[in-house]
Order: sequence, then structure tokens, then C-alpha cells
Amino acid sequence: MILVTGGAGFIGANFVLDWLAAGDEPVLNLDALTYAGNLENLASLRGDARHVFVQGDICDRALVARLLAEHRPRAIVHFAAESHVDRSIHGPGAFVRTNVEGTFTLLEAARAYWSVLTGAEQEDFRFLHVSTDEVYGTLGADDPPFTETTPYAPNSPYSASKAASDHLVRAWHHTYGLPVLTTNCSNNYGPYQFPEKLIPLVIANALAGKPLPIYGDGLNVRDWLYVGDHCAAIREVLARGRLGETYNVGGWNEMPNLEIVRTICALLDEARPDPAGPYERLITYVTDRPGHDRRYAIDARKIERELGWRPAETFATGIRRTVAWYLANQDWVAHVHSGAYREWITANYAGRGAPA
Ligand code: NAD
Ligand code: DAU
Repeated sequence: MILVTGGAGFIGANFVLDWLAAGDEPVLNLDALTYAGNLENLASLRGDARHVFVQGDICDRALVARLLAEHRPRAIVHFAAESHVDRSIHGPGAFVRTNVEGTFTLLEAARAYWSVLTGAEQEDFRFLHVSTDEVYGTLGADDPPFTETTPYAPNSPYSASKAASDHLVRAWHHTYGLPVLTTNCSNNYGPYQFPEKLIPLVIANALAGKPLPIYGDGLNVRDWLYVGDHCAAIREVLARGRLGETYNVGGWNEMPNLEIVRTICALLDEARPDPAGPYERLITYVTDRPGHDRRYAIDARKIERELGWRPAETFATGIRRTVAWYLANQDWVAHVHSGAYREWITANYAGRGAPA
């Protein structure tokens, strides 16, 4: 069994679904079900004994210790976090609590658990920390992409809290020998992403005829990776990554935000033409995000060279799949907007244990 934290969120849920589609090793899923946690993402696992869900907080040391002792996972894959930059600007406290204190709590519980394992169980144990490229700060137009040795220079409360968590993970390896691995990935997109992030927000707003907000001049650049490719990278790092190492994960796919939004509009024009006119008419420039990082870019050669990982999707194929998914799953978006996904949780899960 593996313990996944944050497995009801966007990437965590995709990871759990992919993991159980690829094999039979069970998943213990610990998630606090904040606004970003949505068990409807895991509806297809209802009644599947391989998925054990526990609603709980990674800051709850006693709970984490009990889960480790009871379920004896061979690895922890740590996704749980506050993940949205704009929210971190308005309320940084939750980011420090979950991302810093929560990671610290998990590391301490993992260290206590791991230190009393013996033989192969101890040797094989892994703590994989899922992190972000935002810890490296911002790039100028001509700077080379981030490598694993780029100095940390986080600029938002979110990225600062993730940077702090990365440092804790590193220190627990160097000081205590905890067998850790860290991945630093670029912007993910795909099914089940909460519609506060750029891509699902633009799809949902366009279909609702609402403005498509572009921060600043729309020329900030991100590297985009399809979520399934990120999940595959995490599986590779877990299986064969070198202990104590960090791996950058990215799609070699830098694009300005405006181009992303125009691409989505064009796909929607094709799939669901709006009688009122092309969706681009809804593009609206709004006040920029404070401290908005100009450019992120990932040099993913280390994971490619060492582990043979490569993204399966190009942006053209991944964004087409993603737009198709949101069109086919408008109920999912509607439930998020109406808050009905919270009721779905109460109706379908008894708070703890396997889905009913
Ligand atoms: P998300 O916001 O969609 O999901 C986060 C999940 O963590 C939710 O299910 C939430 O309920 C849970 N959670 C939050 N606080 C918790 C707590 N205290 N205890 C237990 N569970 C808690 O996030 P995401 O986009 O899926 O990101 C997952 C991880 O990947 C994060 O660590 C994030 O920093 C990292 N990451 C995200 C991206 C991206 O583009 N989304 C890119 C690189 C790295
Ligand atoms: O780089 C990895 C990071 O990517 C992850 O660590 C974060 O968890 C994830 O949220 C994401 O951060 P970003 O801030 O890059 O993602 P977001 O979708 O919020 O914004 C993407 C870009 O689009 C960014 O330059 C801001 C811009 N934007 C965003 C929104 C929500 C807009 O122009 N308009 C918007 O309405």
C-alpha cells in the first residue's frame, strides 16, 4: 500500500486513478477535503476496496502516526497543499500552515515510522514530495530554463511556502537519512482541475458567456504539462529516482497566457460554436496579480536522461483532450460552482473509510 496525501485534489485524484488503473497496489488517501478536495473526482472508485479514503489533516500528527502504524505503507506520495497563488496573496496563513507545518508534521511522522522498520521494509521506504517550479522564482525572456541547481528565489506566499517545504524535505534526508525524493513540476492542466486555475476557468467562463480575465498584458509565460504526464513522472521517480535527489518535470512547452486563452477559444469555437460570435470576444484585460512572475521554464533533461520519462502529450493534443473533457463533464463544473460537490461527499462517503 502507498499513502497519498491530497488525493482528492486535482493532481492527487488523477494520480490515484492512474495508479489504480495501472496496478492493484492499494492507496490510502488522506485528504482534509478543503474547498479544493472533491471526492466526485474519485466517483469511479466507489466500492473499490483498493482505495481507502480518510478525511483528515496532514497537520494532525496523531492521526498520521496512527494511519502509518495501521496500514504500514511502503511509500508516502505527498500532494496535499494549498495550491492557488491568488489565494495565497489574500490569505497566506493557510499556506504556511498546510504547506510548511503540514509537511513538517508528515516528515516527523514518517521519520518515526521509518526508523523502526527493519530490513527490506526500511530500505524500500520512500517519501516523495510533490513540488513546483515556482520555487525558482521568475525568468527573463532570454534566461535559460530552471535546472535542479537553479537557486531558490520564491516570490509569492504560495511559492515561499512550497520552497520552505522543499527545504524541510531536503534537511530530513541529510540530517536523519529519511529516504526522500522531490519533484518540481510546471503548470499542470487536465481533467478535475478546480475552475479557479487559468485553463478550467477560461473554459467554464467561455461556456457561460462570462469575461475571460487576462492578468496584466497576458504575456506572462508558463510551461504547461498534461496532468497524466506529471503522474507518470511521479511514478517513475518513486520507482527509480535516486534518494535525496530532486527532479524537474516539465513539458518543453512555454506559452504566453494570451496564446493559451486564444487556443481554448478556438477549440470551443470548433466544438461548441456560440451564436453570439467567437469566444475571443470575451477576453478582458484585468489588473495584474501582485508580484506576478513573468516567466517559468523547465529544463527536464535530468528526469529524461536518468529515468527515461518523456511527456506523451503535446500541448496541442493535451489541450484538445482537456477541452473535450470539460465539455463532456459540465455537471462536474456545475457541481463545483453550486457547491453541490460538498453534498455529494456527505451523501457518498461516510467521512472515513472506503467509499460506500
Ligand atoms: P489542489 O489544490 O487541487 O489539491 C490539494 C488537495 O490537498 C485538496 O484535495 C485538499 O483538500 C488537500 N489538502 C489541503 N490542505 C490539506 C491538509 N491540511 N491536510 C490534508 N489535505 C489537504 O492542488 P493540485 O493542483 O492538485 O496540487 C497538488 C500538489 O502539486 C501541490 O503540492 C502543489 O503544490 C503541487 N503542484 C501543482 C501544480 C499545478 O499546476 N497544479 C504544479 C506543480 C506542483
Ligand atoms: O508552475 C506551477 C504552478 O502552476 C503550481 O505550483 C500552482 O499550484 C498552480 O496553481 C500554477 O500556478 P499559476 O499561478 O501559474 O497558475 P494559474 O492557473 O493561477 O495562472 C496561470 C497564469 O495565468 C498566471 O500567469 C496567471 C494567469 N491568470 C490566471 C488566472 C486564474 C490570468 O491571466 N487570469 C486568471 O484568471
